[in-house]
Amino acid sequence: MTELAHTIERAHQSIRKRTTAKIDAAVVLGSGLSNLDLSDYKELHTIRYADIEGLPVSTAPSHAGELRIVSNNKQTIALCAGRHHLYEGYTAQQVCTLTYLLSTLGAQTLIITNAAGALNAEFTPGDVMLIDDHINATNHNPLIGQDETLGNRFPDMSEAYSNSLLAQAQLAASSQGIDCHHGVYIGVTGPSLETSAERRMFSAMGADAVGMSTVLEVIAANHCGMNVLGLSAITNLALGDDDQSVDTLEDVLRNAAIAGEKITTILNELLT
Ligand code: HPA
Repeated sequence: MTELAHTIERAHQSIRKRTTAKIDAAVVLGSGLSNLDLSDYKELHTIRYADIEGLPVSTAPSHAGELRIVSNNKQTIALCAGRHHLYEGYTAQQVCTLTYLLSTLGAQTLIITNAAGALNAEFTPGDVMLIDDHINATNHNPLIGQDETLGNRFPDMSEAYSNSLLAQAQLAASSQGIDCHHGVYIGVTGPSLETSAERRMFSAMGADAVGMSTVLEVIAANHCGMNVLGLSAITNLALGDDDQSVDTLEDVLRNAAIAGEKITTILNELLT
């Protein structure tokens, strides 16, 4: 057994000391989206990441670092306010510890949200993009060095984002009058933002939005057999053209909140 598998087991036991609830689905809440509330769901438990043995502490801005377990009697959902990023100094496997933990708690569906810059000129800050596929430009992979304890060594990634969940999310958005884009997310390490030349290159490579999370977690989720849905809150224009403005954290968080309201509506429709 690898050190990662031991760490996940310790984290699992920490949760099981507090609750035996089986999780059906988990939602990872990105920057500015921490406060997601699902109507008609009752709060069962709130567990701070700091109290989960082996789970790294999240240090990113606006990431609360807590796991809320909520239920509506039909299904039980883990809302994860806060995730771990490479730019915090964590390894790829530390970034994915939470993902594997959620799988051990029973979650078969992982809904990942994030904040992302628009590489596609048709996008506007405050929009939502459903992630059809991704490009991992981090040069990291959480499976390197693992044995077969947690999953197949060479997991297929041809449907990394579930077509069925994408169709359900699209239907949920349309029924609420929300226009969503579809596109490819490219994941980078950050924390410096991309240069304009890099942004033009990513766009030429076929990416529609760029961000500093998600791709490693989605690799891990596919590795352990979860179905994934990804939603990006478009927070800034990252076209790298002559009109490229300076990106500020304030703008990113303000637009994340605008897109976050739409994501909240979509997830409420999808999960209730
Ligand atoms: N680049 C990388 N990550 C991001 C961006 C961006 O422009 N916006 C929000 N997260």
